[in-house]
Amino acid sequence: MTSNSLITVINDLEYHQFDVSSQDEFNQISSLISEHLSEPYSIYVYWYFLNTWPQYCIIVREKDHSTIIGVIISKVEPHRNVRMRGYIGMVVIEPKFRKLGIGKSLVKLTIQKMIEVDNVDEIMLETEVINDKAINLYQNLGFLKVKRLYRYYLNTHDAFRLILPIEEKATTRIAFLPPIEQA
Ligand SMILES: CC(C)(COP(=O)(O)OP(=O)(O)OC[C@H]1O[C@@H](n2cnc3c(N)ncnc32)[C@H](O)[C@@H]1OP(=O)(O)O)[C@@H](O)C(=O)NCCC(=O)NCCS
Repeated sequence: MTSNSLITVINDLEYHQFDVSSQDEFNQISSLISEHLSEPYSIYVYWYFLNTWPQYCIIVREKDHSTIIGVIISKVEPHRNVRMRGYIGMVVIEPKFRKLGIGKSLVKLTIQKMIEVDNVDEIMLETEVINDKAINLYQNLGFLKVKRLYRYYLNTHDAFRLILPIEEKATTRIAFLPPIEQA
């Protein structure tokens, strides 16, 4: 953990940007995720997200700094070359630290950063249709259910796709949007 990775402190808990060079951080977040998300993610999926968008992996540490108790992993990419789309890939909070507002803080920090740094037009994610906790969390932040994806997960559960519209572009048909200007 490097001190310049600190993003903010909320309720005495430190929110840090993931350190790509730290094997220990990688081991902790990958075991947190594999223990608590139903979908098995390969090492390639982790490295795709973490190496390309380390700025969108935020971790929360226990007060004594030893253990990672929460993580969110996301990315931002152009969608069909007309909208900037943020995508929240994984969010997990260690069970004994749930219902304390940590998940909500991680999602809010990610949304804020995606808007400030990448001017996203919308933010998307999928979650299991039976995951009431996650659906409540996202809907309370303004995400809308836009699609039900049949047998989306390996455990055969359906998913809801949710989108948080940020800019008007998010609600305009793709065919009516001009291509994103290249920098
Ligand atoms: C979903 C999860 C990330 C929520 O994290 P958390 O830190 O407990 O959530 P918060 O305390 O910030 O709560 C935020 C909101 O989520 C919803 N929520 C959280 N726990 C809930 C529960 N047990 N029942 C119903 N809603 C719940 C509520 O809307 C809550 O807002 P409120 O406190 O104002 O009512 C956490 O339960 C978790 O890690 N679950 C397993 C992994 C997972 O399902 N990840 C999401 C996959 S997309």
